[in-house]
This record gives sequence, structure tokens and C-alpha cells, in this order.
Amino acid sequence: MISRMKMLFTTLLLLMCAPKHIYSDSRLLVNMTLVRNASLLGAYCLDGSLPAYHLHRGFGAGVHNWLLQFEGGGWCNDVNSCLDRAKTRRGSTRYMNKWEVFSGILSNNASLNPDFYNWNRVKIRYCDGASFAGDAKFDNGTSLLYFRGQRIWQSVILDLLPKGLRYAKKALLSGCSAGGLAVFLHCDNFTSYLPNNASVKCLSDAGFFLDARDIMLNHTIRTFYEDLISLQGVEQNLDKNCTMSLYYPAQCFFPQHAMRYIRTPLFVLNSAYDVYQFHHIFVPPSADPHGHWNRCKLNPAACTPLQIDILQGLRREMLAALYIFYEYSRRGGMFINSCFAHCQSESQDTWYAADSPRVHNKTIADAVGDWYFGRRVTKEIDCAYPCDRTCHNLIG
Ligand SMILES: *[C@@H]1O[C@H](CO)[C@@H](O)[C@H](O)[C@H]1NC(C)=O
Ligand SMILES: *[C@@H]1O[C@H](CO)[C@@H](O)[C@H](O)[C@H]1NC(C)=O
Ligand SMILES: *[C@@H]1O[C@H](CO)[C@@H](O)[C@H](O)[C@H]1NC(C)=O
Ligand SMILES: *[C@@H]1O[C@H](CO)[C@@H](O)[C@H](O)[C@H]1NC(C)=O
Ligand SMILES: *[C@@H]1O[C@H](CO)[C@@H](O)[C@H](O)[C@H]1NC(C)=O
Ligand SMILES: *[C@@H]1O[C@H](CO)[C@@H](O)[C@H](O)[C@H]1NC(C)=O
Ligand SMILES: *[C@@H]1O[C@H](CO)[C@@H](O)[C@H](O)[C@H]1NC(C)=O
Ligand SMILES: *[C@@H]1O[C@H](CO)[C@@H](O)[C@H](O)[C@H]1NC(C)=O
Ligand SMILES: *[C@@H]1O[C@H](CO)[C@@H](O)[C@H](O)[C@H]1NC(C)=O
Repeated sequence: MISRMKMLFTTLLLLMCAPKHIYSDSRLLVNMTLVRNASLLGAYCLDGSLPAYHLHRGFGAGVHNWLLQFEGGGWCNDVNSCLDRAKTRRGSTRYMNKWEVFSGILSNNASLNPDFYNWNRVKIRYCDGASFAGDAKFDNGTSLLYFRGQRIWQSVILDLLPKGLRYAKKALLSGCSAGGLAVFLHCDNFTSYLPNNASVKCLSDAGFFLDARDIMLNHTIRTFYEDLISLQGVEQNLDKNCTMSLYYPAQCFFPQHAMRYIRTPLFVLNSAYDVYQFHHIFVPPSADPHGHWNRCKLNPAACTPLQIDILQGLRREMLAALYIFYEYSRRGGMFINSCFAHCQSESQDTWYAADSPRVHNKTIADAVGDWYFGRRVTKEIDCAYPCDRTCHNLIG
């Protein structure tokens, strides 16, 4: 269990540190704001440090619009892995960089981020290890851990309301990976804090984690989430209508179930071959003890025909889980491309650049903007691998 967690954790770090294009002339660094009042709510990172966000103010026509983005970074589902995490930037603001690069959807440059560049843009730092949804504490006399993701979420919102969020005209809650999952969990709660006449929507990037079996038919991710939910006290914060309607309330942590109860317009951005899900949910190391998939994991061109067939099955499973949303959600949007990627809204090269991935000739920035502003219905589903020539397939 612990080693599986460490794998989940370290590989995610590797993925997130994968080399990216350097846009040195336009790199925007934004400083950290600690949520000083968080202690009033008992909102702490795993180690007891104060939570934080980075805010870059909007300007011009965007001055009353707000984009909030949850940072991602895996999860910790047992005491030891959370104790380890509490000593890193994933579990403590003490160890985080105090300046964050704002690129992609967070960029302030109109030619790099045409629809959101002049909004107030906020990156909410992730330090609870449960997608901002836990509420519990571990204290056995020698070790202390705060599982306070839900309170962190609330403390950040309460801190931002007087800074202008209270008067938002347009708002978008986004996030990637574990932060993309947090979007599903907090979307309607976000709406409840904003004016009734504001336009509020939610965008999940690489957060559509499937309730799928691995290639050995084990429920690896479901078991992992069940441990996480019970350790961190997540269940009480899941949508009540959802938990009342399912036999296993913990399933409401999965977007495919949670999304059916979300009333705010939602956009699902995901790769059908999301590399994190591929490496850790469908083909976790426990399901491939002999490493038959190692070469394929590093480079899709090295997969055998049988492995490609299995990956096509995973794509079908994702599309099936999204089918009702695709057919019946009038205000929803989606962009399910076929690139081996994980998180495509935060880095400039996948969000909006001359050679960015496209579906039907639309970049991800085009698709999200068209949906947000109602310029056209946007439900893009890419053809199956390997047809898409616009992918970079840089999977680290
Ligand atoms: C905005 O991005 C474009 C394209 O990368 C660049 O040429 C321009 O200098 C940038 N503008 C600012 C103000 O950084
Ligand atoms: C950091 O950002 C805040 C606004 O959030 C600003 O008031 C403060 O001056 C900034 N600090 C530095 C060192 O730039
Ligand atoms: C508390 O938990 C930690 C981590 O599981 C463990 O190492 C330690 O021995 C425990 N302390 C007590 C008093 O049980
Ligand atoms: C939103 O979440 C907070 C806790 O973070 C809770 O106190 C509040 O009641 C929720 N609002 C709604 C409308 O569910
Ligand atoms: C922090 O709490 C104090 C006391 O409750 C309150 O007066 C102040 O407005 C709060 N500040 C923010 C930024 O929420
Ligand atoms: C919402 O209503 C308030 C008060 O009537 C008004 O000041 C604000 O401009 C309205 N916002 C939008 C987006 O229409
Ligand atoms: C996975 O399932 C197999 C049987 O299909 C079982 O023998 C094995 O212990 C399971 N492995 C894990 C890590 O749960
Ligand atoms: C549950 O559904 C009812 C009826 O649709 C709705 O009024 C209520 O707000 C929902 N509760 C939650 C917690 O979403
Ligand atoms: C694709 O879109 C670009 C603009 O983003 C345009 O220049 C190009 O002609 C389009 N290609 C096709 C085949 O429509």
C-alpha cells in the first residue's frame, strides 16, 4: 500500500516536472498570499501550516471576472504517506515556492490566453492530500496530521470574497488532476458564494478519474480512494443527494457519479489516454509486476498491438462514462482528445500555441472560451490514437 502510494506520488511529480517550452520573455511570476485568518476556521495544511493562494489582479474589461484554479498533485491515503507528504511542498506551504509561474489559462497575455488574460486569476495551493475535501485530524500523541481540505477551500473563498470575488460578474472554477477532481466536488459550492446574476461555470482538467478496474481486474483506484475517504473524513463533504443514492457512498468521489448532481455548467477536459490514469489506475505497477508495459508507458509508439487494443478499451470506457453528459447536458462542454498527456490547461504549449493539440482545428483555449462565452456548442471528441497529428505525446 505504501509503496503503491509512493509510486502514485513520485510519478505524478515527474509528470508535472516534465520539460516544457520556456517562454522566458513572457514568464509571469505571482507571489504567494497566506490565508492569515485560516486558523479561525481550523484550516491547515497537513503539517499545520497556513494555506495559501496566488492572486494576479484582473484589469480592463476583466476586472470583475474571477478564475480560481485548484493546484493538483496526487493524494495521500494512509498515515505514513501523509506524514511523508507533510514534509514536502505537497503538504506544507513552508516548503512551497513563494512565486508561481502563471501560464496557459493563467497567463496575463492576450496572445497566449485570449479569453481569460485580463480576469482576476487565482491559483489555490494544494496541501491537504484529499482534493480539498477532507475534514479530520490524526493525533496519536507523537504524530499530528491535519486533514482539512474542505476548510482550506472555505477559508480561501472567505479570504477572496472581500477582495472582489463577492462582486464577480463572471467566474470560472478550474483545476488540474487532483485539482480537477476538486472542481467536481466544489463546483456547486463555489456558485453558492457568488451573486445570483453572475455567470458561474466549472472546468475540470485531467480530473475525470474513472471508477475503472485495472488490467488484472482489481479495483485499484476504488480501493485507494476508499482508504483516502475514510482516513481524511471526506464522506461528510460529498454531495448528499449523490451519497444517498448510491450503495457505496464513496463512489461519489468519482466524477462520473458526482457530475450527475452538479447544476453549474461544467466543462470536462481530459485526454482519453490520460497518462496518469494509464500508469496508475489501468496499469498500476501492482498489475504489471513483470514490467511488460514499461516501454509502452514511456512511448506509445512502442506499445504492442495488444496493448494498443487495451488502451482503446480504456478510451471507450471514458467515452461511455461521459455519454449521458455528452448527449443530454445542454450547458456542458467537453474536449476529449487522444494525446498521451495529463493536464493541458496550465502549460502554454498545450493550452494555446501555434503547434498546440487541436480537435476539429480548435485548440483547448478556443474550445473552453467558445463554451464559456456561449459562442458555440463545444463537445469535441477526438478520433482514436494514433490519428491525431497535433499531439506532442510528451509523457516524460
Ligand atoms: C505576449 O506573448 C507574445 C507571444 O509569445 C509575445 O510576443 C509578447 O511579447 C507577449 N507580450 C507581453 C506583454 O509579454
Ligand atoms: C505580493 O502580492 C500582494 C498582493 O497579493 C502585494 O500586496 C504584495 O506587495 C506583494 N509582495 C511582493 C513582495 O511583491
Ligand atoms: C503514531 O503514529 C506514527 C505513524 O503511524 C507511529 O510511527 C508512531 O509510533 C505512533 N505513536 C504512537 C504513540 O502510537
Ligand atoms: C459550502 O461549503 C461550506 C464548507 O466548506 C459549507 O459550510 C457551506 O454550507 C456550503 N454551501 C452550500 C450552499 O452547500
Ligand atoms: C479576518 O478576521 C477578522 C476578524 O474576524 C476580520 O475582521 C477580517 O475581515 C478577516 N480578514 C479577511 C481577509 O477575511
Ligand atoms: C448583478 O446585480 C447587481 C445589483 O443589482 C449589479 O450591480 C451587477 O452589475 C449585476 N451583475 C451582472 C453580471 O449583471
Ligand atoms: C489483483 O487481483 C488478483 C486476482 O485477479 C489477486 O491475486 C491479486 O492479489 C490482486 N492484487 C492486488 C494488488 O490487489
Ligand atoms: C438535492 O436535490 C434536491 C432536489 O433536486 C435539491 O433541492 C437539493 O438542493 C439537493 N441537495 C444537495 C445537497 O445537492
Ligand atoms: C485551422 O485554424 C487556423 C486558425 O487557428 C486557420 O488558420 C487554419 O486555416 C485552419 N485550418 C483548417 C484546415 O481549417
